[in-house]
Amino acid sequence: MRVAVAGGTGLVGGYVVQELTAAGHEPVVLARSRGVDLVTGAGLDAAMAGVEAVVDVSNLDTTRARTAIAFFESAGRHLLDAGARVGVRHHVVLSIVGLERVGLGYYQGKLRQEEIVVKGEAGGTAEGGAVPWTVLRATQFHEFPLQVLDQVPGPLAVVPRMRTQPVAAREVARHLVELVLGPPRGMAPELAGPQVEELVDMTRRLLRARGQRRLLLPVKMPGRAGTAMVEGGNLPTGSAGPRGSQTFDEWLAEHVGQGEREVRGE
Ligand SMILES: NC(=O)c1ccc[n+]([C@@H]2O[C@H](COP(=O)([O-])OP(=O)(O)OC[C@H]3O[C@@H](n4cnc5c(N)ncnc54)[C@H](OP(=O)(O)O)[C@@H]3O)[C@@H](O)[C@H]2O)c1
Repeated sequence: MRVAVAGGTGLVGGYVVQELTAAGHEPVVLARSRGVDLVTGAGLDAAMAGVEAVVDVSNLDTTRARTAIAFFESAGRHLLDAGARVGVRHHVVLSIVGLERVGLGYYQGKLRQEEIVVKGEAGGTAEGGAVPWTVLRATQFHEFPLQVLDQVPGPLAVVPRMRTQPVAAREVARHLVELVLGPPRGMAPELAGPQVEELVDMTRRLLRARGQRRLLLPVKMPGRAGTAMVEGGNLPTGSAGPRGSQTFDEWLAEHVGQGEREVRGE
């Protein structure tokens, strides 16, 4: 089956492409570097020819609500409308656990992305219905502290204080592929990792594993969002959802372990 992966060159998107290929499917990558701009819609119709299902893991790097809303609104609408034109039977979106509770600027964009899908604001089919959909909310990836560190290079590492139950991006991708190959689920049960962590502590362990020396400065994000992050607003609600099996330390050993061994002189 041809499955479009919006953001298929990104972190989780790359794994989605690998998992689809391994399962014998044909991923079609939608990204600017592949000639498709989801914000303007350029190149989209040509790329969507013959596509039966879509996984949306597109993203932008911003903390501003207005920028995030503008991106997810246009990308989501273009993708759903293009999907409806070729008769897509399942549209799967990756979102984030705790959007309402934490309310960061970027999260306003993710809420808008969900809303367009859930309320059927785009992607109306010839029969009048919206493209059938699934929204998967996942917790932060094990890769998240890497993304935080690399956002601001330099001797100082400013890290938000936050409780999280991180999951490997590869496991998120595996779950997205299982979902897209199955029937539409609406709001799917939240996906999280095996254990609760503090982002500051994860970042410390990551720096050690990389053999990097940076002064780590934990900060509470301002306002209600900051309080919610400290108090666990990003943790999954209930214990019923699926759980990844790889712990952060196992992920570190697999991906960043060499640096750690060098630090210990092994
Ligand atoms: N990071 C986390 O811990 C976490 C946790 C839960 C959920 N999520 C969600 O997971 C999703 C994927 O995140 P990620 O970190 O894997 O993303 P990422 O690595 O930043 O990749 C973003 C992707 O979007 C594409 N893209 C950006 N602008 C585009 C445009 N205008 N048109 C077409 N493609 C565009 C990029 O390709 P080009 O640059 O080539 O266009 C790239 O393939 C996000 O929606 C995020 O909210 C993240």
